[in-house]
Amino acid sequence: MAHPASFTKTEMFYEGKAKRLFGVKEDASLIYQEFKDSLTALNGIKKSEMSGKGILNRDISSLVFRYLKKHGQSSHWVADIGVNAMVTKKVKIIPLEVVVRNVVAGSLAKKLNQEEGRDLEKAIVDLHFKDDSLSDPFINDDQAVHVLKVATEVEVKKIKSMALEINEKLKTLFLGIGLKLVDFKLEFGKFENGEIVLADEISPDTCRLWDVKTGEKRDKDRFRRDLGDVLENYRIVWNDLNKKYGTGL
Ligand code: TMP
Repeated sequence: MAHPASFTKTEMFYEGKAKRLFGVKEDASLIYQEFKDSLTALNGIKKSEMSGKGILNRDISSLVFRYLKKHGQSSHWVADIGVNAMVTKKVKIIPLEVVVRNVVAGSLAKKLNQEEGRDLEKAIVDLHFKDDSLSDPFINDDQAVHVLKVATEVEVKKIKSMALEINEKLKTLFLGIGLKLVDFKLEFGKFENGEIVLADEISPDTCRLWDVKTGEKRDKDRFRRDLGDVLENYRIVWNDLNKKYGTGL
């Protein structure tokens, strides 16, 4: 295999809200993922460009994937390339947004009229069907398996147990820099042999991260809720992660 640093991208085959995906000329089993500077919320209704966000989210996601790998959880990540891209293994994304929650917040608080901030007795996993045209609706396991048929019953069980294992590792990672992992979203992909692997990204766009001491939010809620200093907070997360874990990964 050629060294990842020398890989070149082929034509773009997909552009999402946060990433552009290209092929890798030297290896058809890989994908070149560029992290965009766009920020979106409310299923794309609220939009903004923040120069440098793509670099920060690439750096944070990559460090998180490398940390997970070191602690026994593999993902699609292969190598970083350029300032805002990573090379990943090609997988078929399972169209489920797998949300893990440690604390009542966000849509859960709103839907059930609960105050934000209460620790849950145990982490819970919510599934959403990944479909922008339907605004990623909340679904249950039976709907995923028997109506949408996006995964088998065994696969849904596996995905949920992987998500909970990843939660334990991520809670430790973020607590190490004084952040409470409130909730987050994962996506999983499948190799041709059927193996399921962690994919997409893990960044302040896809997690809620609250400063343990001050309660300050260091995630996309700063954008969703117009709290300001969005990138400054993403940068604090990156700088602290890099200082604490960067050299060991
Ligand atoms: P929620 O409170 O909107 O349900 O979101 C829970 C967590 O999952 C929060 O950290 C944001 C993340 N998330 C995404 O990144 N993308 C999504 O499409 C969804 C539904 C949640």
